[in-house]
Amino acid sequence: MARSTTRFVCQACGAIHPRWVGKCDGCDAWNSIIEETASETAPMGKKVSGKRSGRGRKIDFVELDGKIEPAPRRMTKIDEFDRVTGGGLVNGSALLIGGDPGIGKSTLLLQVTAALANGARCAYISGEEAEHQVQLRATRLGVEKSPAQLAAATDMRDILASLDNADGPDVVVIDSIQTMYIDALESAPGSVAQVRACAQEIIRLAKRRGFTVLLVGHVTKEGTIAGPRVLEHMVDTVLYFEGERGHQFRILRAVKNRFGPTDEIGVFEMTDRGLVEVTNPSALFLAERQDEATGSVVFAGIEGSRPMLVEIQALVAPSPLATPRRAVVGWDSNRLAMVMAVLEARCGLQFGGNDIYLNVAGGLRVSEPAADLAVAAALTSSISGRPVPAETVVFGEIGLSGEVRPVGQAEARLKEAEKLGFTAALLPGRRKGTKGKRAAGGLDLHELRDLDELTRLFEPGAGPIRAVGNG
Ligand code: TYD
Ligand code: MG
Repeated sequence: MARSTTRFVCQACGAIHPRWVGKCDGCDAWNSIIEETASETAPMGKKVSGKRSGRGRKIDFVELDGKIEPAPRRMTKIDEFDRVTGGGLVNGSALLIGGDPGIGKSTLLLQVTAALANGARCAYISGEEAEHQVQLRATRLGVEKSPAQLAAATDMRDILASLDNADGPDVVVIDSIQTMYIDALESAPGSVAQVRACAQEIIRLAKRRGFTVLLVGHVTKEGTIAGPRVLEHMVDTVLYFEGERGHQFRILRAVKNRFGPTDEIGVFEMTDRGLVEVTNPSALFLAERQDEATGSVVFAGIEGSRPMLVEIQALVAPSPLATPRRAVVGWDSNRLAMVMAVLEARCGLQFGGNDIYLNVAGGLRVSEPAADLAVAAALTSSISGRPVPAETVVFGEIGLSGEVRPVGQAEARLKEAEKLGFTAALLPGRRKGTKGKRAAGGLDLHELRDLDELTRLFEPGAGPIRAVGNG
């Protein structure tokens, strides 16, 4: 009989401790350690032996420049999804899709399964919903006629046995990995040990049988995929599905991808008939914008390979509180603190005694430093009460001494702005030694070298913001 021992496992990072402690020294998380029973039998019943591992067979080495075929890919024809995966699903690969509860993971994967089912054998295994619930959803999405196969199951041993045959499926969805369990392990479903073991087994089978497996992963309060980072190491691709609850936009973001670029995003809109692709996100993010409102700036950003225009709004208002509020939605609050400090120290603006609210409209999360200048413009506009002209886009990084630094892909940003009817841009001057005229199309370019030049545009009597000419 297998001897069982107990150990203490951090549910946040998977670190193992010999005894219970309040704080994990692996990841500094508090109260994340729970007791698990570790049986010395490997998950699928194979005996683990310390002495004999493998049969001592020689492994084969090959040259780095060996002839390789590009990995065959399966396209869903849902362009926003295919782009994020790097051009379709690779056979034998494992993907993890994380996101808050209710954000639309199950909806997205059901649509993906249905889209793939016309050319491939697809299986959708739900551990959270009964078959008829998924069927209801399929009817609502209008995909109930798709030949995809559906099952409600949570026992990993049953699932593996059903998938492990020659005419098994090509694509498998497991919704969600936290509901699956292997009965050889004594810990509860959703614990690190179960999540890790279940994922390991299904991924191993996927590599052996050559099917693609899509795992849904729940997200903790802190926003990371529950039941540990280790899961992210085991899969080939990690996608996050995010969005603000009150908004209908959903963003699918690749944070790790062995078969394609990361930072690529796909934009969807949640409607009453499921997720609909948004092919021109800039137009959508700017749809609600009011002309010439103070504190509102259009930032020309880049998301993955795509330029994207978003509205950044700032509100600076006198505060009744001893410690004024700083509320940020969709941007990094440390970055906001830095931009404010530079505006105070280098340009003489006074934010003390004011509440500051910063919001990226539409529920998008911006992480580019190139948004610094747009944030500074929004803050300055709000505090001075003078609007940025409506047809102007802004981008540029800010340094601690107040300098405005060049950012990548300026041409792509300007081109997108022009396409959407903008006529002017506030942007960094070019790096020294860059030759040739700036290809700006019909935009008036107003190049800034430091933040002083920006704040001067908002001084009383500064006149309308005009361009300094092209080039
Ligand atoms: P769901 O896919 O169940 O989220 P998750 O699997 O990430 O927990 O999505 C549930 C939400 O989406 C729910 O609040 C209802 C909404 N929804 C729509 O608005 N339209 C639809 O067509 C569907 C299927 C769901
Ligand atoms: Mg779900």
